Amino acid sequence: MNIVLLGAPGAGKGTQAKLIEEKYGLTHIATGDIFRANIKGGTPIGKLAKSYIDAGKLVPDEVTCELVKDRLVNGEEGAGFMLDGFPRNLYQAEELDKFARIDLCINIDVDKSLLMDRICGRRMCSCGASYHVSTLNGATTCAKCGKPLFQREDDNPQTVGARLDTYASQTAPLEDYYKARGKLVTVDGGSGTPEEVFAVISSVIDKYLK
Ligand code: AP5
Ligand code: MG
Repeated sequence: MNIVLLGAPGAGKGTQAKLIEEKYGLTHIATGDIFRANIKGGTPIGKLAKSYIDAGKLVPDEVTCELVKDRLVNGEEGAGFMLDGFPRNLYQAEELDKFARIDLCINIDVDKSLLMDRICGRRMCSCGASYHVSTLNGATTCAKCGKPLFQREDDNPQTVGARLDTYASQTAPLEDYYKARGKLVTVDGGSGTPEEVFAVISSVIDKYLK
């Protein structure tokens, strides 16, 4: 099955994608992660993407759509895939429908008041683990692999403000896009632990698979 994970910055898309990948074997494709790897590698795509990401704006559609299309056409998807951070506007959603079949859109809904703290308090590890400062008790290394933790460059209040505005104006309308196609399921991502949110998402996926 093929899933789109929709949700504002900090809603928990990446957190839930890891849990879904472990349980259901779906391939996790995150456009933000792909862009960050390109920035780190100094590629032309990375150089182009950086200024948009730093400003909290969307990387141009032609670049992003081509990247995802290429990944899906050339990838071995096995049980299916899960898109995290794509599509992010109506144009991308329409393009996606031309080159892939989407079965379900899981929309992780979190009150805006929680998002700034979640994102600005996030600390990442290069192994993919992510933490919130409030649970680290001053630790600066990853509990899973021991490497130093870091903060994403776009996880500062100014850029997060712009990312939230971009989400509200360009991405949130996709709820209606998938609702109109009978594919939208909204789950509450703001009042439970990641495991509790995952239990709800699992029940949604299990129901679909029956
Ligand atoms: P991207 O990397 O996709 O970032 P984002 O959408 O802003 O989302 P985040 O990764 O910040 O949050 P998340 O929902 O994954 O939350 P997480 O699980 O980490 O995109 C970055 C940039 O790339 C964009 O701004 C844009 O410039 C560009 N880009 C990407 N895709 C593009 C596209 N399609 N088109 C054009 N440009 C594109 O969780 C957040 C925090 O909350 C963590 O600390 C976590 O531990 C914590 N948390 C998670 N769940 C819970 C819970 N239930 N309770 C408490 N804390 C929780
Ligand atoms: Mg993410």
